[in-house]
Amino acid sequence: MSWGESGPPDLLLEAVDFHQYAYGVLGAVELAAALGLPAVSVLELGVAGGNGLVELERLAIDVGAGRGVATRVVGFDLGTGMPPPVDHRDVPYAWRQGFFRMDEPLLQARLGNAGLVLGDIAQTGADFLASAPPPIGFVSFDLDYYSSTSAAFKALLESDDLDRYLPRVLCYFDDTVGPHAEMHSEYTGELLAIGEFNERHQRRKLARINGLRHKVAPVDGPWVEGMFVLHVFDHPRYNEYVFPEPDRQFPLEDKA
Ligand SMILES: C[S@@+](CC[C@H](N)C(=O)[O-])C[C@H]1O[C@@H](n2cnc3c(N)ncnc32)[C@H](O)[C@@H]1O
Repeated sequence: MSWGESGPPDLLLEAVDFHQYAYGVLGAVELAAALGLPAVSVLELGVAGGNGLVELERLAIDVGAGRGVATRVVGFDLGTGMPPPVDHRDVPYAWRQGFFRMDEPLLQARLGNAGLVLGDIAQTGADFLASAPPPIGFVSFDLDYYSSTSAAFKALLESDDLDRYLPRVLCYFDDTVGPHAEMHSEYTGELLAIGEFNERHQRRKLARINGLRHKVAPVDGPWVEGMFVLHVFDHPRYNEYVFPEPDRQFPLEDKA
């Protein structure tokens, strides 16, 4: 499997229902390897039954082992299902309190070394960062609500401790497309939280990857709309060259 110069990485073609995890994990591990880092954190915010976290752990072990990068996989959830929505920004016409409860013993039995942290992300995210984990390289955001996503940003993406991040952190937002009746826009939900994050920060931006759908064809799909990168512009390693070729030239071809 390889990240590659263009076209979809092999892993993406195999990942069927989990393209966002495959792309996020590959991006995180490739960047960590290029920077010579021994380990990277990959996180799932919003775990519910745990199908995503189980797949994330499987992919992270596979990809990390192939690159000599250890992956710390951690899922965060309340465990008790969705909390009450705060207001219209949480899109209560799509989600209700108590949706997506977890069967914790069942999920724990399916996980290997992946961590499962239960509680409100505002607290558990801050505690995780304070524990000095490996730099965060990929976060899958699936907390549904604007309020929960904003709280997660404040807890996990806004620290001044730059060692806690890769210079570019892949971030997947699951609730940007959805079924017809969800009608996501920049005025509610995850997209509103992203817009406000970008207004709050001059040197840290959440941005889509321009033209991603062309790079990953034929596995283009709704997941592409949700794939962003946290650019940490003031990260001490942000400007470091990361391609394997030490030199790149386009010499004029001899047509004679
Ligand atoms: C749609 S589910 C996640 C689905 C999961 N990613 C999967 O692959 O099946 C959303 C989850 O976000 C969790 N959640 C919402 N707000 C939260 C908060 N403030 N703190 C922690 N978890 C929260 C809920 O408990 C719920 O399980």
